[in-house]
Amino acid sequence: MKTLLFTKELEDLKTEALVVGFYESFGNSDIDKYDVISDGLVNEVIKSKEFTGKFGKVLMLRLKGKLKRLVLVGLGKREEFGLDKAREISGKAAVYVRDQGIGEFSIVLFEDINPYDAAYCVVEGVKLSLYQFNDFKTQGLDDIKKVDQFTLVANGNNFVEIDNAIRKALVITDAVYYVRDLQNKPSNVVTPSYLAEEAKRIAARFKFKCTVLETKDMKKLGMGGMLAVSRGSDHLPKFIIFEYNGGKETFCFVGKGITFDSGGISLKPSQDMDDMKFDMSGGAVIFGLMIAVSQLKLPYRVVGLVPATENLPGGNAYKPGDIIKFHNGKTAEIINTDAEGRLVLGDALAYSKRFNPNAVIDFATLTGACVVSLGNLYAGLFSNSDEFSSKLVKAGENSGELIWRMPLHDKYKEHVKSNVADIKNSGSRDAGAITAAVFLKEFVECKKWAHIDIAGTAYTKNNKDVLSPYGGTGFGVRLIMKLLEDWKTK
Ligand code: BES
Ligand code: MN
Ligand code: ZN
Repeated sequence: MKTLLFTKELEDLKTEALVVGFYESFGNSDIDKYDVISDGLVNEVIKSKEFTGKFGKVLMLRLKGKLKRLVLVGLGKREEFGLDKAREISGKAAVYVRDQGIGEFSIVLFEDINPYDAAYCVVEGVKLSLYQFNDFKTQGLDDIKKVDQFTLVANGNNFVEIDNAIRKALVITDAVYYVRDLQNKPSNVVTPSYLAEEAKRIAARFKFKCTVLETKDMKKLGMGGMLAVSRGSDHLPKFIIFEYNGGKETFCFVGKGITFDSGGISLKPSQDMDDMKFDMSGGAVIFGLMIAVSQLKLPYRVVGLVPATENLPGGNAYKPGDIIKFHNGKTAEIINTDAEGRLVLGDALAYSKRFNPNAVIDFATLTGACVVSLGNLYAGLFSNSDEFSSKLVKAGENSGELIWRMPLHDKYKEHVKSNVADIKNSGSRDAGAITAAVFLKEFVECKKWAHIDIAGTAYTKNNKDVLSPYGGTGFGVRLIMKLLEDWKTK
């Protein structure tokens, strides 16, 4: 989709559909302007209450002139309108227009909020909501409705600033698209070696470093978690290392890259097992972050680690009762082979130490228990730092990717005590998301560490959130880009 900025007078705009937002109070200064443009239709539909300005309401008026259609969207109460709502209503308008079969439209920048932020959110809302994944369809392709051009109308504003906001929103949403595509592709395509090849491809294209560790390297490094989990699969494990050098301060991002999680010998029930192609979502987020960070040339050193493997039962698969040794020398007793994410992350978190990072953040579809706790609105946040946590929570609120802090008390360590090894990989059912985080903490030395459990937010199978159509959501990219954007401001 082509995205344009239009800063001239409305009379000069040629568009299939012009989206204009109205508050419930109808206090918009330029309501008369649209009434004139529409030959009195706007005031008519307001008077008849066909359009009330209630948040989310959409009404399309067919016009006669150069402006073919006026799409009125309700912004709700003026005092309740903000960036979240700007994003959402832009998404709703975009989907509405697309579903009418209209391939080109414009949105007038909303009033009363900072125009730079508003422009960013409008582009974000439009792009995120119009995402589609059709790579594997061969039939009915001609019937798929698509928008190929979108224009932001921002008359009378500082357009250099607005243009920058649009550019940034496009880079970040393109990265989200990339992550979603990777998530949505099935596990017979996205294997560990596919991820490794893709990693090298994006590193070359966007100019950052990429190294891939093979089984023999993992053996040398004593990565017993990676080696154990991968043993049941014919696909060889890959440990992907990205490095972007834009500054000194180092952020290390780690993402769970299980390309399919069958549970292994502790096999999962077949209901919804197909969702486990999404178990590489944390890893996919790291790919997207590397792309966005390098394109925006952020002044940091960013290291991305993706331990990639499949978790399958097989003749050589690891088994309950096995004891393994990790890269940092610690040992764990395997209670449940379905608690595999923490094993590959244990090695990756231990490996992160060599980059001497200022902060480490891992993303993982780690526990069903996190979904039970928070559903799919908030991801779970676990951290060893109060200050770091509050920065992350704030970045969540500002980006629209919400995270909620969960406890990490030392007493939870009881749950992962083993009789025969340092720790065990699964406790009782109680506090399942927390005990997984407590397990990961055993591999962390950095003073600013956060674990984000995205089991509930990484993908969606309903259409509840207009910004996230069916499938992978790319959750995490926007959160971290916001964190990094605001990192140095107090
Ligand atoms: N990948 C799953 C977690 C998951 C569940 C992600 C649902 C997305 C949706 C993870 O590897 C897993 O199987 N966790 C187990 C841990 C248990 C065996 C301790 C779980 O949550 O049941
Ligand atoms: Mn599992
Ligand atoms: Zn898993």
